[in-house]
Amino acid sequence: MIQFHSVFKSFASPSEREGKISILNDLNWELAEGDDCAILGPSGSGKSTLLTLAAGLDFPDQGDVSIMNQKLKAFKGDSLIEFRAKNMGIIYQGHYLISSMTALENVMLSPVIQGMSEAKEMSVNILNEVGLSHRLNHFPSQLSGGECQRVAIARSLVHGPKIVLADEPSGSLDRDTGKKVMDLFFSLVNKKRITTILVTHDRHLAKSTKHQYELVSGQLQKIKL
Ligand SMILES: Nc1ncnc2c1ncn2[C@@H]1O[C@H](COP(=O)(O)OP(=O)(O)OP(=O)(O)O)[C@@H](O)[C@H]1O
Ligand SMILES: [Mg+2]
Repeated sequence: MIQFHSVFKSFASPSEREGKISILNDLNWELAEGDDCAILGPSGSGKSTLLTLAAGLDFPDQGDVSIMNQKLKAFKGDSLIEFRAKNMGIIYQGHYLISSMTALENVMLSPVIQGMSEAKEMSVNILNEVGLSHRLNHFPSQLSGGECQRVAIARSLVHGPKIVLADEPSGSLDRDTGKKVMDLFFSLVNKKRITTILVTHDRHLAKSTKHQYELVSGQLQKIKL
């Protein structure tokens, strides 16, 4: 479902003397359809970078990322945007809800843009599934941190994606709230058989997934927790 083939990624250092900073270094990795995995690794090791490449929001310097057997760099024009919108759900580090839109409007945005006629009904249903049917018309500033994360989860799942990429969805929450939000997240992605990459610092949480990896020296090493 998700394949990284000899992927190299580096960033130019802001200080010229340091040249390039290598982040991913000949990364070869794949995740099968319907599987979930956790990616651990120290801050700055490249976890968010890896998710960005998996989403096709940025591209490798060398090598290929393929989703559903299609090389992301081979898409032309807006076809990658459409492919991503249809097949992927993304939960960014920090929830990135649009502050001028209500919970319902935030969740509806993507299905409306995709021209789905049932956008509102689908959005109400998924907000119900994350336990927020009583908060549809609240703005993000009127929601708790855990509620905002649940809206972000609803937004990532509303259009029925095949893949979810989640970057520290519980990182900003206290332990108990984080656990509740993540239990909910896993119950939804497992019920819907969605292929899932979860980036997290939380080793305990990582145990909920089928496969666990640590990003070390630009490569993913399988670990047992
Ligand atoms: N656009 C960029 N330009 C230059 N350097 C970048 C850029 N994006 C990321 N980096 C660097 O790449 C490294 C990896 O960043 P990344 O955000 O992938 O780390 P991370 O593993 O997600 O860390 P964290 O756990 O703190 O979220 C960092 O050292 C960062 O400074
Ligand atoms: Mg990160």
